[in-house]
Amino acid sequence: MEKLLVKTGCPYEVCVGHGLLRQSGELIRQVCPKARIAAVVTDTTVQGLYAPALMASLENAGLSPVLFAFTPGEEHKTLRTLGEIYEFLAQNGVTRTDCLVALGGGIPGDVGGFAAASYLRGIDVVQIPTTFLAQIDSSVGGKTAINIPQGKNLVGAFWQPRRVLCDIDTLSTLPEDIFADGAAEALKYGMIASRELYKKITEDIKGNLETIIRSCIAIKRDIVQRDERDTGERMLLNFGHTLGHAVEKHSRHQISHGRAVAIGMNLMTALTTRMGLTQPGVSEELKQACQGLGLPTDYPCTLQELLQYASSDKKRAGDSIRIVAAEKIGTASVWTLPFEKLCELMLTFS
Ligand code: NAD
Ligand code: GLY
Repeated sequence: MEKLLVKTGCPYEVCVGHGLLRQSGELIRQVCPKARIAAVVTDTTVQGLYAPALMASLENAGLSPVLFAFTPGEEHKTLRTLGEIYEFLAQNGVTRTDCLVALGGGIPGDVGGFAAASYLRGIDVVQIPTTFLAQIDSSVGGKTAINIPQGKNLVGAFWQPRRVLCDIDTLSTLPEDIFADGAAEALKYGMIASRELYKKITEDIKGNLETIIRSCIAIKRDIVQRDERDTGERMLLNFGHTLGHAVEKHSRHQISHGRAVAIGMNLMTALTTRMGLTQPGVSEELKQACQGLGLPTDYPCTLQELLQYASSDKKRAGDSIRIVAAEKIGTASVWTLPFEKLCELMLTFS
């Protein structure tokens, strides 16, 4: 097992390795020594696959596990699910010294994380990510959230986990399309921070999987350590997300987060190439990489429609919006421009 230390306000380790689920009880006990109850929050698919091993390990470590599972899918990352989790925690007598264990992809991670951030004004959370996307991105860095009808992740909190357990073995059951969602976020890290990583992803993602997972986590750790609260450099991690979130919302979540990010990265890079912020050829290279990984690069709706959806994005600040432009593969910058200017540019180029 490798441990990557994330030095945020409350430092914690991201443990990456094989067979971690079997050791999870002890690994949780070490960081939540006062906990009596471990409240596991997951979705019903992951429950069937991995809850038995987790619950057994928690019991063996002397904890009393209780489990809440909700229907998978972005349409359940809601206030309603959150409310059900609060009631479940209260009904099971979960106290301030107990802990919540978020088991699954980015959705149980985000909703479970936000429940932990807000229940009793905050209880410990341990993240056990079981998708490629969640292992390299959503479980690290402490962003937690739910969606509201007006937009994605509009309600949430920064709440760093006590520990993150990335058991690579859990990825063996991932369907190809869900694996590809993670590949989109991995490509994002390559685009913003490392040409070498980008090359590993495009040449042999499965053969290089463990190295890729560790590299992505290390990139995120370094950025989050320098900008825990997302006021500057961390915004680089939103590459492809402004238009990606708009695609997710426009498609009523029929397009998954990873696929939407792939579309968003391609649309944004085409735009920033025309603006002169991206070197010629990068956009084509990115498109080819996405296609090779089974990811979409375009979305059948007008840019006007997407802009309407992008207008409620969190990356807006007053009349401005922040966009991330890749100058070349491995280097990106955050630009602030008036939202009207973005609209004008997109409509001119469409
Ligand atoms: P998800 O949690 O819905 O998981 C995708 C699907 O995979 C689900 O149907 C789930 O049941 C299934 N699944 C999970 N693990 C499995 C396994 N090991 N084997 C088989 N099936 C498995 O979605 P996701 O793609 O993991 O995450 C997307 C979410 O993450 C979005 O809501 C996005 O906004 C959020 N996100 C958050 C951050 C952050 O920093 N907090 C970063 C990136 C994305
Ligand atoms: N996924 C974006 C972030 O963590 O900041």
